Amino acid sequence: MILKNFFIGLSQNQFLNTMAQKYGFKLGAKSVVAGTNVEEMIESVKELNMHGISCTIDNLGEFVYEREEATKAKEQIINVIEAINGSGVDAHISLKPTQLGLDIDYDFCLRNLEEIVGRAHSYNIFINFDMEDYGHLQPSLDLIDELSKKYENIGTVIQAYFFRAEQDIQRYRGYRLRLVKGAYKEPEEVAYQDKKEIDRNLLRLIEYHLVNGKFTSIATHDHNIINHVKKFTIENNIPKEKFEFQMLYGFRKEMQLDLAKEGYNFCTYVPFGTDWYGYFMRRLAERPQNLNLIAKQVFNRKTNTIIGFGVGTFFLGRLTKK
Ligand code: FDA
Repeated sequence: MILKNFFIGLSQNQFLNTMAQKYGFKLGAKSVVAGTNVEEMIESVKELNMHGISCTIDNLGEFVYEREEATKAKEQIINVIEAINGSGVDAHISLKPTQLGLDIDYDFCLRNLEEIVGRAHSYNIFINFDMEDYGHLQPSLDLIDELSKKYENIGTVIQAYFFRAEQDIQRYRGYRLRLVKGAYKEPEEVAYQDKKEIDRNLLRLIEYHLVNGKFTSIATHDHNIINHVKKFTIENNIPKEKFEFQMLYGFRKEMQLDLAKEGYNFCTYVPFGTDWYGYFMRRLAERPQNLNLIAKQVFNRKTNTIIGFGVGTFFLGRLTKK
């Protein structure tokens, strides 16, 4: 829990985010981020497609507070949509409303999203709204409600740690939904804190949506959840076309390939771009062992260099926190 809070704290530090963007991949994000530009990302997607794996692409960015930056993010995402269409890869988009200006102005964000969803709609490309922290949950659902009046190529995420998840999944069962445990630090007034309770709730939500919902994306690296889904879908005659497994780029690669080989729909979440810092720190918060994954690749001489970086940035972060 201490380490989780430590990395979540780092993930929200704007000064360190700017530094990370400046000094790029040298800090070790390369193993979990598929390049800094569209060309590199498309190459990674093609390679995954060759193994029968589809992709959801995240042009990294979040918690944007300047209009100019949000407009730039919108243009970049439209550029990714064009690249998906132009290259013919099997992929769709994941985006975060705060990247498109939700913290600046709701209507401005809505207009940005409308352009993105409209362009994707013209190519029959699906857009998934990633779910961020509790403060952004209701406004994000409001955006989806508004956009659904005109478009059906959208879906979102239900986070099992929220008490309201059960109510939300019932309301949004007609949508393609990604079901996850939840990645942010949330207060006990609104969210389960105990891992076992979160796992139990995730299983309840998965079973509910597999039986009652549209298409279900089960997004987890947890083999216990995956094995439960395999058993449940066989016992309940749920066809493989009704669901897929999702994992993040760079994590449990063998298992990703194995699931695809077993004939399950599999989709890898492919983040790319220079704004990788917050994403990267949340992965360390979820599983500090992920440090090994990164350390192995980058610091095969001295793994503690990166730990030193983490500790150093934490204290620097405390000095510079807004
Ligand atoms: P968890 O971290 O709970 O681990 C459970 C067990 O699985 C571990 O004890 C270990 O045994 C095994 N395990 C896990 N990772 C492993 C690894 N790398 N190697 C070996 N074993 C491992 N969150 C959010 O709030 N909003 C969102 O929009 C999304 N979107 C999203 C998309 C996708 C595709 C994924 C995979 C995840 C998200 N998440 C998310 C993150 C999600 O909420 C959650 O924080 C992480 O997936 C971590 O939880 P897991 O269920 O993966 O396993």
